[in-house]
Amino acid sequence: MLEVRALTIDELRQRSSEKWREYPADVLPLFVAETDFPLAPTVRAALQRAIDTGDTGYVASRNPLAETYARFVQRRFGWEVDPARIRSTADVSMGIVEILRRVVQPGERVVVMPPVYPPFYDLVDEAGAELVRVPLRDTGSAWEIDLAGIRSALQDGARAILLCNPHNPTGTVHARDSLAALAELADEFDAAVISDEIHAPLAQPDAGFTPFLAVSEPARRIGYAVVSASKAFNLAGLKCALMVGADDRTTAVLRRLPIEVVWRTGQLGLIAAVAAFSEESEEWLDGLLRTLDENRRLLGDLIARHLPGARYRLPDAGYLAWIDLSGLGLGEEPARRILREARVALNAGVGFGAEGAGHVRLNFGTSPEIITEAIERIAALPRG
Ligand SMILES: Cc1ncc(COP(=O)(O)O)c(C=O)c1O
Repeated sequence: MLEVRALTIDELRQRSSEKWREYPADVLPLFVAETDFPLAPTVRAALQRAIDTGDTGYVASRNPLAETYARFVQRRFGWEVDPARIRSTADVSMGIVEILRRVVQPGERVVVMPPVYPPFYDLVDEAGAELVRVPLRDTGSAWEIDLAGIRSALQDGARAILLCNPHNPTGTVHARDSLAALAELADEFDAAVISDEIHAPLAQPDAGFTPFLAVSEPARRIGYAVVSASKAFNLAGLKCALMVGADDRTTAVLRRLPIEVVWRTGQLGLIAAVAAFSEESEEWLDGLLRTLDENRRLLGDLIARHLPGARYRLPDAGYLAWIDLSGLGLGEEPARRILREARVALNAGVGFGAEGAGHVRLNFGTSPEIITEAIERIAALPRG
């Protein structure tokens, strides 16, 4: 069994990415969605070969990524994807914008489900569309898609739905039934569903993750998936994502995208993604999932011990924790005080939507030592 362990803080401080450059050295950075693990050996070897041979030109039109991805999702989720219905681009955000531009007219409305990954708001705007917010329903033990709210948004003319599956920041793997109901609803109104599945490779094995396009015929008729190896394998800076269709109409939309959209795929990103999605990387990915499982539970124990009054539910996927600190007397925006006084950088909940007041998002894709120190620092803050 392969163990995947985070680098030490001294090693991490040698990195030059956003996570390690945004704040001074006394701040523990648990904000942006990068992880603190070494590269998977398979990915590292593939990138090393590319560097050694100077293989840094344009991505080839004939490349094995779509086939490799199709085999990956077949093995992991039992999802049958036709590689001919896949196109690549630079990143998931760009994939979402390019699809939105083609499925909604300027000024038409797109549903987002707060609290949600903050750039979703900007992406809808970048595509020239208008936002409709239909917040997830907090049942007290889970977050659920508000199907009645979405029906009413569609009745009012919304033309597309931006789904986050698994959901960032709550880490929710949406139940198959609710995805099927969403698909039926969207199909009834002939609205597109764009399913951002960037965190899907990090769904815990017991979470029952279902790719949106695997849900039902209606889902395949109106759905697009945008996916990447970048979150699980920490490759965001290399720029490679995939847009997936499952039906002739949606595939035609992807085929009609300007060739420049595909040309923006990073060559090193593509090489890394082929290695990441290959069968040889699976032992590493399973090791990472075990480490993240330990981390999400450790975080729960630490919160119970040091931050009574905080509310945290184990995420089903990924390495992001959504924590309600509103009972702790740290103010409306606890992230601000936590940064200033505890020297821990978290994402402020309000960035994800008004529902995030009093919340923070914490990145636990790191070592147990860093997680422990972060919670102990927060616990030491005077409250009132
Ligand atoms: C749900 C979600 N979508 C998209 C992104 C950004 O992906 P990319 O860098 O491929 O645009 C992130 C990054 O954290 C994310 O969490």
